[in-house]
Formats: sequence, C-alpha cells, structure tokens
Amino acid sequence: MLIRKRQGWEIPESQATPEAVYHDRRRLLKAMGLGGIGIGALAAGLSAGFLTGAPAQAAAPPAPPADPSASLYPAKRDPRYTLDRAITPAAIVTTYNNFYEFGTEKDIYEAAQQLKLRPWSIAIDGMVEKPFTMAIDDLLHVMPLEERLYRHRCVEAWAIAVPWTGFPLKALVERAKPLSSATYVRLQTFLNPKEAPEQNQFWYPWPYTEGLTMAEATNELAFVATGLYGKPALPQNGAPIRLVVPWKYGFKSVKSIVRITFTNERPKTFWEVLGPTEYGFWANVNPTVPHPRWSQATERVLGADKRVPTVIYNGYGEYVAGLYKDIKGEKLFM
Ligand code: MTE
Repeated sequence: MLIRKRQGWEIPESQATPEAVYHDRRRLLKAMGLGGIGIGALAAGLSAGFLTGAPAQAAAPPAPPADPSASLYPAKRDPRYTLDRAITPAAIVTTYNNFYEFGTEKDIYEAAQQLKLRPWSIAIDGMVEKPFTMAIDDLLHVMPLEERLYRHRCVEAWAIAVPWTGFPLKALVERAKPLSSATYVRLQTFLNPKEAPEQNQFWYPWPYTEGLTMAEATNELAFVATGLYGKPALPQNGAPIRLVVPWKYGFKSVKSIVRITFTNERPKTFWEVLGPTEYGFWANVNPTVPHPRWSQATERVLGADKRVPTVIYNGYGEYVAGLYKDIKGEKLFM
C-alpha cells in the first residue's frame, strides 16, 4: 500500500497551526530558499530550461476577509485519507502559489486579494437534465463538507501536503444529473481582467480550463475544495471553490471555478493549448516519465528542505490506477 498511516514521528497537523507559523514566516521562507520554475515560461517564450526564480518575498499575507461561510469550518476530518509526511505549514501554502491570472511568479498572494469572492455562483450546464446556477453559499449548505489530508505534486517538481475542506466532486456530479451520453467534465475559472490583470495577456487562452473524464470526476479521490487549514479558502488558493485531484500534476486542480460543463468532447485544457508536448490532458504523476525539460523522479518538499522520490499517481494508485488499465495509446503521464 502506498499511502501509509501516520507514524509516531510525523507531526500531527494540530502542531502545525497556521497562526503559529504565520508569526515566523519570514525566517521560515528564507530558510527554505524558496524558488521555482514557472510552467508559464513556455508560453512566455522563456523556455530555455529549468528556470529558478528568486526566493519568495515574505510580506505579511493579508488577513482573510470576513467570509459568510466561516461558521461551516472546521469540518470533520475523513480518517480514510492519511499522509506519509507532515502537513505543510499554512504560511507556505498560502504564500507560494501558482495562479497565473494574478502573475507568473509564486508570490501572487497579495495581487490575488483583488478577487471578489461574493457574490459567486457556479453554473452547471451542457449535457445535464436541466442546467442550473447555484450561489456558492447555497451549494455549501447542501454539500457534505469534510476535511481531507492530501498530497499535492506540482508538475514543476515541488510538493506540499494540505488539509483541504470541501466535498467529493461525485456529490456535485450527482446533483447535476448528467445525461448518460456525457463522458467528460469541463471546469472553468472566472474571467475578469479587472480583478485579475494577467487575463489581459492575450497569448494565454483564458479562462483557465481543465477537464476530467466522468470516471475520474466520480472517483472518490476527486475533491472540490472550499477551505483549507480548517478555514474558508483564501483567494490565492482558489477560493471560493476549486478542484483537487491529488493523483495528477497540480495544474489539473483548477482554481476559482464558475462553470462546470458536462460534454462528450474531451476539453482542451489551458496548459494543453499552450504546450501540448509538455502538458497533456491526463497529467497523472509518474516518476519514470520525465517532463521534456526536467526529471520527475524526485520532488522538493516545501518546508522540509529535502527532496524525496516521487511516487506513481502521487501515492494514490490504489484508488485510481484502475481508471487507466484499459486505456491504450494515450500519454497518461504528461
Ligand atoms: N488554476 C487557475 N485558475 N490558474 C492557475 O494558474 N495553477 C495550477 C493550479 N490551478 C492554476 C490553477 C497549478 S500549476 C498548481 S501547481 C496549483 O493550482 C497550485 O495550487 P496552490 O497555489 O493552491 O498550491
């Protein structure tokens, strides 16, 4: 089994409270020497190799705005999902982000505060019995909220472990009542260049779009996150609602979703349009299939100052390997 129960030496998340770490974030980030490569380097014409950015600057992350859903958190933890590593401190997960709508560097958390989280609604359309739109707070009250500890593996070879709050995507799919002819789900981010200035960059195929097969979307691991660390999500992490598919590279986990469409055509995804030879539709984690510009054999664990071997399906093979056993002739790992 690839996911093991937490061992005695592993830090329980109760000892990694966001607030405690917030106070020490400057020293922490400096000590980590955080840097990274931009997957957008390709689109921006900077694709000369494995780029290393400057260390993240540790300005104070803004306090979360008053959130009408705050009373729903924390949700009860689902004990089925355990980690093989310590939870990453919240100070890192909320200040080291990929959210290209707000910039191509990792320190977009301040810019992302421009994203207005209310009113926010999600449209469900395409091949469903009856399309509908639902306000986020109405949705939150009918979905079975729970907390799950998941590993997250970015295609850039950094990794974090996060306590997400949310609900299984399957619950939303059931509510959407898709037609039996629907074979894919397309998930779309908001489009509002006034709040997200990078959406003025015409060479990106906005809005950010991702897709899953119906079998993937209804797999028990596919999760819709609305919070993290026992609180409502922050804009930089994809508030108020994002996808979390931990067996795939992080770019599949689309943030700040406004539309979910059921279709029988494979969605063209944001990164696939930009770099089809580097970022595919499937993007399942596999240490033996290198990215064209770097190895995927190991990953940098943020906050732990070490590299560890990458595991196929990011350690979730027991849940998802079966989804792919009959698929032939597809690049399942890029
Ligand atoms: N969703 C949108 N809309 N825009 C993005 O740029 N980046 C993706 C994914 N979802 C991205 C997105 C990538 S590359 C990663 S690794 C994760 O979000 C990062 O999530 P995090 O910042 O919460 O760690």
